[in-house]
Amino acid sequence: MNSPQRTAAVDLGQIDAIVARCTGQKWALIPLLQGIQEEFGYIPPQSIPIIARALGLFPSQVQGVISFYEQLYTEPRGRKVVRVCRGTACHVRGGKTILKLVKRHLGIEEGQTTADLEYTLETVACIGVCALAPNMVVADHVHGHMNPKKLEQLFKRRDTKGDNSNTGD
Ligand code: FES
Repeated sequence: MNSPQRTAAVDLGQIDAIVARCTGQKWALIPLLQGIQEEFGYIPPQSIPIIARALGLFPSQVQGVISFYEQLYTEPRGRKVVRVCRGTACHVRGGKTILKLVKRHLGIEEGQTTADLEYTLETVACIGVCALAPNMVVADHVHGHMNPKKLEQLFKRRDTKGDNSNTGD
């Protein structure tokens, strides 16, 4: 499997080559979109008319499917997705402050990605580990009992070795 390119530069020839494998196969739309996202890390908007033409669909139909599935993105995503819990248990234990501090550390708002494509920030309704509240997830690792100090240490590693720990304690 190729690693996602995650850059703004998109090779249209590469998109053509991927799409060509599915020409005329309307049923292949979702696997095709997933394949393009796997290749580029997202679905470049320039690929939508190419896909539509190859599959005999309107671009609006392709866009409609992309919009329907939350797992499909038309903007580059960060290598690590930061998900801050905004559920009730986390909220009453300071989740709002954690979100505010994460935004400050990363310099982005919810739904945005840092300019270096390192982090994408999202919020979630509940991570499912309420006993550890307030919680956040960084690159699929749960970080429980978050507080400003832990948060600072977590993002301090950004410049050294990045996040690779699971600190649910
Ligand atoms: S409310 Fe945050 S983990 Fe459940």
